[in-house]
Amino acid sequence: MSRPVAIAPSILPADFSRLGEECLKLQEAGADRIHWDVMDGVFVPNLSLGPDIIAAIRPHLTIDFEAHLMVVNPDQLIHRYVEAGCSTITVHAEACTHLHRTLSLIADLGATPAVALNPHTPAEVITNVRDLLGLVLVMTVNPGFGGQAYIAPMEAKMTQVAEMLEGYDCDLQVDGGISPTTIAAAAAAGANVFVSGSALFNHPDGLAGGTKDLRQRAEDAQG
Ligand code: DX5
Ligand code: ZN
Repeated sequence: MSRPVAIAPSILPADFSRLGEECLKLQEAGADRIHWDVMDGVFVPNLSLGPDIIAAIRPHLTIDFEAHLMVVNPDQLIHRYVEAGCSTITVHAEACTHLHRTLSLIADLGATPAVALNPHTPAEVITNVRDLLGLVLVMTVNPGFGGQAYIAPMEAKMTQVAEMLEGYDCDLQVDGGISPTTIAAAAAAGANVFVSGSALFNHPDGLAGGTKDLRQRAEDAQG
């Protein structure tokens, strides 16, 4: 039984001079959640935004916020993003010396614990923390920037993670290069939550049409 499809737009391609309005447009276009790409300039060679911006926008939207923490020391920052209104906190396995403890901290703060796996990181990393997880993010680009090419060999990892998550109440998310031409293969490989940035913001049918198109392609591919 496939898990429900969710479309989670990345805010990276948004017009940062009007970020609140842009997020509202995404919600009105049918987005299921907002995917906040948080970058510290160390874990990835890019710097994006902090919790105060998210907190300022939180009251204006009703859909969920998820924080994708591309940061070297998530333990220091998790509480700030929960307080800012993010209900799912995704940490990178590669940034966590004590991943079990970090995921437990997220749960203790009342948010959904999630882990992201960079392209080089094997699926086996989640073996002993599956009972803590509400979402696994299989990166389909090397993190740091939007607009990169989808790494198709990650589909084998998606299928491996999906098999490892059988029996667990846990979503499988993909992030990076998700577009009308790649989403079906990712869905067929086992993903059910889809982050899209550049492909959605540049979709010929606009945000609403693009969200609908991506959702339909994913649902059709789930069978
Ligand atoms: C990359 C981010 C992704 C990315 C998605 O580090 O995690 O969310 O920005 O953007 P597109 O869909 O343009 O690859
Ligand atoms: Zn992301």
